[in-house]
Amino acid sequence: MSDTIYPVPANWAKTALIDEARYHAMYHRSVDDPEGFWREEAQRIDWIRPFSRVKETSFDEKDFGIAWFSDGTLNLAANCLDRHLAERGGDIAILWEPDDPATPDRRITYRELHADVCRLANVLKDAGVRRGERVTLYLPMIPEAAVAMLACARIGAIHSIVFAGFSPDALAGRITDCDSRVVLTADEGLRGGRKVPLKANVDAALKECPGVDTVLMLRHTGADVPMVEGRDIDWRTAVAEQSAECAPEEMNAEDPLFILYTSGSTGKPKGVLHTTGGYAVWASMTHQYVFDYRPGQIYWCAADIGWVTGHSYVVYGPLMNGATTVMFEGVPNWPDPSRFWQIVDKYAVEAFYGAPTALRALMREGDDWVKKTSRKSLRVLGSVGEPINPEAWQWYYKVIGEERCPIVDTWWQTETGGTMITPLPGATPLKPGSATRPMFGVQPRLVDNDGTPIEGAGEGCLVITDSWPGQMRTVWGDHERFFQTYFTTFPGVYFTGDGCRRDTDGYYWITGRIDDVINVSGHRMGTAEIESALVAHQKVAEAAVVGMPHAIKGQGIYAYVTLNSEVEPSEDLRRELVKWVRQEIGPIATPDVIQFAPGLPKTRSGKIMRRILRKIAENDVGNLGDTSTLADPSVVDHLLENRPQPE
Ligand code: PRX
Repeated sequence: MSDTIYPVPANWAKTALIDEARYHAMYHRSVDDPEGFWREEAQRIDWIRPFSRVKETSFDEKDFGIAWFSDGTLNLAANCLDRHLAERGGDIAILWEPDDPATPDRRITYRELHADVCRLANVLKDAGVRRGERVTLYLPMIPEAAVAMLACARIGAIHSIVFAGFSPDALAGRITDCDSRVVLTADEGLRGGRKVPLKANVDAALKECPGVDTVLMLRHTGADVPMVEGRDIDWRTAVAEQSAECAPEEMNAEDPLFILYTSGSTGKPKGVLHTTGGYAVWASMTHQYVFDYRPGQIYWCAADIGWVTGHSYVVYGPLMNGATTVMFEGVPNWPDPSRFWQIVDKYAVEAFYGAPTALRALMREGDDWVKKTSRKSLRVLGSVGEPINPEAWQWYYKVIGEERCPIVDTWWQTETGGTMITPLPGATPLKPGSATRPMFGVQPRLVDNDGTPIEGAGEGCLVITDSWPGQMRTVWGDHERFFQTYFTTFPGVYFTGDGCRRDTDGYYWITGRIDDVINVSGHRMGTAEIESALVAHQKVAEAAVVGMPHAIKGQGIYAYVTLNSEVEPSEDLRRELVKWVRQEIGPIATPDVIQFAPGLPKTRSGKIMRRILRKIAENDVGNLGDTSTLADPSVVDHLLENRPQPE
């Protein structure tokens, strides 16, 4: 960890929306007078019926509940579109950069986006989609993905986006869990010149989803895909017949906006539910302050809409603020490792927001790929999804930003709706690797394993002691699981699942997950999910998955596999299992290492001692701790002797 301090550049301190003094004043007010602070901050939203109630929240079991602005009404699509039409309807809302730089880009104005959203909203209404109904989106990074989100929001339907890299099985599970009747997809996606068979995946998934009666299919690559009579509808034909007007539904602030599935430490992925009013305030406010956003600036968040970052910072936050948001279909290193910075130059991007894993991959390719490009338009650089190691931070700062652009290392989660601990570019002196200080209204606390608060500098579990407007409201269909997962480990506070250090300046340094979740290339994976995929293979008796350090991905996936007694381990079987997991979950769950193990280290009561497995995966074998309580300590020797070399 580095404690070098990078002060706020003088020009930033003078011109930023929020400077250091203002940050402190606003932060104190936000926690001392939350009612007053949020009443004012919420004026950024166009309410249909103004709210009178502001914050009605409790994390205590006896009166547990989270509601914000609960008697206000609004429509989020109208806040992203209609409100801009009079003044800047001709401004570009979405700049779409295709996977292949030779394909024409698309520039969509607010007026055009409004019309597209209304047409699709009318298609959904004709398909019988009602307010509160769940609609599943399985789409590539194309403008129609944003159109689909906004069309749902316009009619009060709840969207559930499934990342287009997930397998048919994973898609089916998510469709079933939220009981979707309608699925929106495309023929194929494109990433780095490769095709992703989206429609074929949907067809495979729907074999397990008898409740789906409508599939809206967008022709994107033009691939010849079979259409199921009576179920599948051609997207473009359907929207062409519709009116470009659709009145926005008046939604209550606490009506659901979207579900997004995310991995937890146990069981199947949870449907994280966000509601409308608080999320709108939070996404819009954090986007504006964190990027010091002013209308007219070109802003690019390189996340996929399949993740929460894409929801809050490709679509909702920027569009509420009237931004021009860049949407990129492709990958950072195709056709070559200059691609990101070429796009920055092409559109004169001022704010760029990306993940450390991409930076590490590009850093490895050398500086020449960067130096070929100008990047002079850049003003601020963001990082999200995983801890950024100081080397990657320095490279981002020096080589990409040429020591001119503050780096906002934003810590947050699917559950939090938007950034929680983050620098503000005009306010916060930076330390490489630290997410620095809390956003307005966020009250972090460090506690030890017993829940005792740690004061001053120290390290512990990160909890948040009070609610903020963008907080998730429930786990879809399982409110009890919501309470159990987040509010019982340390009663009365929200448990993040992350470990964290606080230094003597009060800066926060996220150290990573302390539960059975691993963070692979900024994507959250539950070890339990990968384990259940492995044991679903007929030759596997048992599996245990842990994280391991990985130079590019941050964490890699290390799987210990016990085979059925009659099965011999082999290279072929190892490859087969890797392929199997990719098929069961998706390529992001590809195991980096599979170690065949005749036995796993277990206590006498049969509990797998993951601590030991983690140490072996981390190659920290000098320090395995007490193994005497194991049912069979010799298992550990076997594991140590047969540790495969990671590729
Ligand atoms: O461990 C933290 C890590 O990512 C987790 C949340 O993952 P997800 O819900 O997929 O959301 C990712 C996008 C917000 C957190 O619990 N994480 C996220 N941002 C950072 C981070 N770890 C360190 N520094 C960050 N800036």
